[in-house]
Amino acid sequence: MDNFDFGNPTRIIFGRGTEARVGALTAAHAKKVLLHFGGGSIKASGLYDRVAASLKAAGVEWVELGGVKPNPRLSLVREGVRLCKEKGLGMILAVGGGSVIDSAKAIAMGAVIEGDVWDFYLGKGEPAKALPVGTVLTIPAAGSESSTGTVITNEDGQLKRAVNSELIYPRFSILNPELCFTLPRFQVACGAADIMAHLMERYFTRVENVEFTDRLLEATMKTIALKAPVALANPRDYDAWAEFMWAGTIAHNNLLNTGRVGDWASHDIEHEISGIYDVAHGAGLAVVFPAWMKHTLAQDVSRFAQWAARVWNVDADFADLEATARQGIERLEAWYRAIGLGTKLGDLKVGTDRLDEMASKCTDGDRHTVGNFVKLDKAAVRKVLELAK
Ligand code: NZQ
Ligand code: ZN
Repeated sequence: MDNFDFGNPTRIIFGRGTEARVGALTAAHAKKVLLHFGGGSIKASGLYDRVAASLKAAGVEWVELGGVKPNPRLSLVREGVRLCKEKGLGMILAVGGGSVIDSAKAIAMGAVIEGDVWDFYLGKGEPAKALPVGTVLTIPAAGSESSTGTVITNEDGQLKRAVNSELIYPRFSILNPELCFTLPRFQVACGAADIMAHLMERYFTRVENVEFTDRLLEATMKTIALKAPVALANPRDYDAWAEFMWAGTIAHNNLLNTGRVGDWASHDIEHEISGIYDVAHGAGLAVVFPAWMKHTLAQDVSRFAQWAARVWNVDADFADLEATARQGIERLEAWYRAIGLGTKLGDLKVGTDRLDEMASKCTDGDRHTVGNFVKLDKAAVRKVLELAK
């Protein structure tokens, strides 16, 4: 196991009705905030009214900025930065999914600098401070509610890029599983696929003697594999949502990669697909991950076979571990299909004419590799994309 330094400062408030506490939690940080949300689901569900009532009761004033799109755009981030500066806002309250939260984190970094926040996403400098962010999560998926990450798409160049900084850990995140009852089926499936991907990225590691975190990852993968279909079949099953939602946060709050180094090539490759084609992140991962597995399997067959046996209940064939591993990949693909996702680029309506461009963008023109379990150069990324055809 590697050395590590772990601390996750996001306070999680979990359970039925917990959005009623948002006013008091926000007031502890600022009395004038930016209320940031997406395309309207929070108004349709009544959540907006409950959040507004709680903020009012706590004496918090707000300026609104709705309209965050999935794969959140830089132009709206810039609008949020302008509002925060102009109106002297002291916090961003994100009510929504990963896209709203990521947009809020970007605004939080941009509101305290003179320059352009996009520079951080291009790797030009690192943030030195940020406004506080609080969240009310409405979908278990990205894990942004207690992660260091923010992923933004610059419409100019169709570039989707990430920043990771401890400064943007949300100060608090409210998780009420009841808020998931209104989720469209496709978003539920995408969320489950994203969470599964966050676990698999961490699972496929070269670091040895990490049995404890292996076991935690396997338990979390099994939970998502079992609970996502239950939530899909019974959208008002609080207990299934509660486990799904908490597992989604734990999957990406860095606890499960303590002492180990994850891979992350599948995420890097998927970000190129959603950057150009604006597909849902989870749907893209369901296509990329099996292809990545087929490409990298031979590098460490026993780890894949362990995953297949422990997570997907494949009977291990010790004389042919590769066959065991391949059955695991088949079961993963069958699970994606069972929850309603495709596993091929064509299912995303993504053609094959821009594979080279994606491989090039992903590796910055072949100047660096992606992934840690196996380092992929441009040609290897292209091969993974070919396997996803
Ligand atoms: O915009 P509204 O109307 O709110 O509708 C949203 C949106 O259309 C809808 N929705 C969310 N909660 C709902 C609901 N509809 C009905 N009832 C509810 N309770 O769902 C749609 C998708 O929302 P979005 O926020 O885009 O989903 P998700 O949480 O999957 O976020 C995806 C984004 O997160 C990034 C992805 O790249 C993608 O841009 N990621 C962020 C990470 C991070 N910050 O750590 C890590 C991830 O790997 C990921 O890359
Ligand atoms: Zn993800």
